[in-house]
Amino acid sequence: MNTNYKRNLVTCALPYANGPVHIGHLAGVYVPADIYVRYLRMRGRETLFVCGSDEHGVPITIKARKLGCTPQDVVDKYHNIIKKSFADFGIDFDIYSRTSSEIHHKTASEFFRKLYDDGKFIEKESEQYYDEEAKTFLADRYIVGTCPKCGAEGAYGDQCEKCGSTLSPDELINPHSAISGSLPVKRATKHWYLPLDQYEPWLRKWILDGHKEWKTNVYGQCKSWIDGGLQARAVSRDLDWGVPVPVDGAEGKVLYVWFDAPIGYISNTKELLPNDWEKWWKSPDTKMVHFIGKDNIVFHCIVFPSMLKAYGDGYILPDNVPANEFLNLEGDKISTSRNWAIWLHEYLEEFPGQQDVLRYVLCANAPETKDNDFTWKDFQTRNNSELVAIFGNFINRAVVLTHKYFEGNVPRNLKPEQIDTDTLAQIPAIKKAIEDNIESYKFREALKEAMNLARLGNKYLTDTEPWKVAKSDIDRTASILNVSLQICANLSIAFAPFLPFSVKKLNNILNIETLAKPLTWDNLGLADLLPAGHHLNQAELLFNKVEDEQINAQLDKLASIKAANRAEAAEKAEIKLAVAKDKCTYDDFSAMDIRTATVLEAERVPKTDKLLRLKIDTGLDIRTIVSGIAEYYTPEQMIGRQICILANLQPRIIRGIESKGMILMAKQEDGKMRVVSPEEKVLNGAIVS
Ligand code: 2FM
Ligand code: ZN
Repeated sequence: MNTNYKRNLVTCALPYANGPVHIGHLAGVYVPADIYVRYLRMRGRETLFVCGSDEHGVPITIKARKLGCTPQDVVDKYHNIIKKSFADFGIDFDIYSRTSSEIHHKTASEFFRKLYDDGKFIEKESEQYYDEEAKTFLADRYIVGTCPKCGAEGAYGDQCEKCGSTLSPDELINPHSAISGSLPVKRATKHWYLPLDQYEPWLRKWILDGHKEWKTNVYGQCKSWIDGGLQARAVSRDLDWGVPVPVDGAEGKVLYVWFDAPIGYISNTKELLPNDWEKWWKSPDTKMVHFIGKDNIVFHCIVFPSMLKAYGDGYILPDNVPANEFLNLEGDKISTSRNWAIWLHEYLEEFPGQQDVLRYVLCANAPETKDNDFTWKDFQTRNNSELVAIFGNFINRAVVLTHKYFEGNVPRNLKPEQIDTDTLAQIPAIKKAIEDNIESYKFREALKEAMNLARLGNKYLTDTEPWKVAKSDIDRTASILNVSLQICANLSIAFAPFLPFSVKKLNNILNIETLAKPLTWDNLGLADLLPAGHHLNQAELLFNKVEDEQINAQLDKLASIKAANRAEAAEKAEIKLAVAKDKCTYDDFSAMDIRTATVLEAERVPKTDKLLRLKIDTGLDIRTIVSGIAEYYTPEQMIGRQICILANLQPRIIRGIESKGMILMAKQEDGKMRVVSPEEKVLNGAIVS
């Protein structure tokens, strides 16, 4: 392991631009990465922080189908929303670009082409699932079925979201098309594969022997992939959205999103530094760290490094990949489709200006070693009992007392005592602990240490009681407040990587701008950061109490989402589990005259929402049926349609109209009714048996 790096390249997983970002994203990837980068910059280390939107792949095209718009519309919308959320939360990227950019298409295309020209791919024809109705191959999330690992329904062709397993479409049980719902067929198609098996010995040496210091969850996943035997992976797909495969005979094929997305880190660096990007990617002096969630481990530790290795040309590999586990919300997995999430833009509407509270809670409770739970109660407690009661309270007391007794000027240290020295002497150890923890990607521990410094200050004030001492000994009061204010300045440094908005406020209160020298990380631990006579601004509260009503409002909101989800699930379950009916005889069945018919005319029954009056040709006669299908079909949609009817049902008078028979219908999963029609046109009056 190189310990003499000269610069740091920090990347964050490129989020799919198919929806806004939520607290799970922030806790798992972006807050830890931002803390790390702010810390490095404060230490004066040359650092580049790169991210952007992942705008290709099936997640985008699925969203476009759902919204009835183009994939470009989807990514344009969400790229801007995501970019704004990150900026709003102070995630301070040097560049946040997008993989639909021209430079990315060019870079990814050239990358593929070089590997292709160098003979690094295997070209192979194989049978893949094809939707005959939608006339398209079913890549990745376009095919869904039952997970072979955990039995969950709705697992994708590339991954089960329930258990996190990586899957291939062939492993799915009962696969069906996510586009049309139809049963897919197999069709031959040609693709390019990266033969990961050939990289196995190298990966084993590089990761399993060379990076034993990686987090246990990351190392463990890599080990199990490598020990399980790596296989060639397709790096192209039959899709019309993405970077076109840049070889002849590849029409209708694009690069697999997981091939192009990580190259986005390179393209975005190039976009920012067209003349200087190579030093970040091709110098052994650069330390590259990828911040990601656990579902991205295989791509960042195995696939992308193998791509870089195959490319050669001096590309560096990550020094570390500190992937986090997942954050749950109130005991349940965060889910976009179930709307079970706290969206960043919504949080800011409800807690304006309180970005740091969320940053604090998400870091204090980050899923660093295991999945963790976000609860609103914990959010309230951490805000009220830690940020307000410890950090905010200490700063406020020190500054208010300085204004009260010394007109807002830092008093001279006229009468020092042992407790002062003992208190200040504890800061260097806290500094060291923060450094060690941040540098080993233990951000929760690092934050705890910063809060310990605030605790230290609070305890010092409580022990020394300057408000009492002031009555008899103003010189001693001066010393106590001098020491307290030095701790305040130290807190501004210690918290800077974690709480940038509050530290900005604090620096304004402490009037740091007017100091001769700015505060740097190296100053942490010094007892003379604020010179005697330095004037402070008025105190303002760094944090505000979160009230029970605010928390209850959030809990109510979640409860109604849960209720809506339950109702939907119950409806689905009812449909799926419709109880089997008692046995009937063949005679019972043959007594029913089910036959085909064609709708000649259709109109709404006046003053009803649900009823259509249909004139139909049964082959035997022309008759009227009144049916409750107006919710699902307009009269126009019914006219000319061939249907099946129960023709010998006892006639009934409905709204004054005689209805002779019943239209056969099937209830879908979403509760909607669809008419049952012969697949091909048949004679009217043909018996259905
Ligand atoms: O899981 C995801 O959200 C992916 N879009 C992450 C891509 S990371 C990188 F490779 F670009
Ligand atoms: Zn599963």
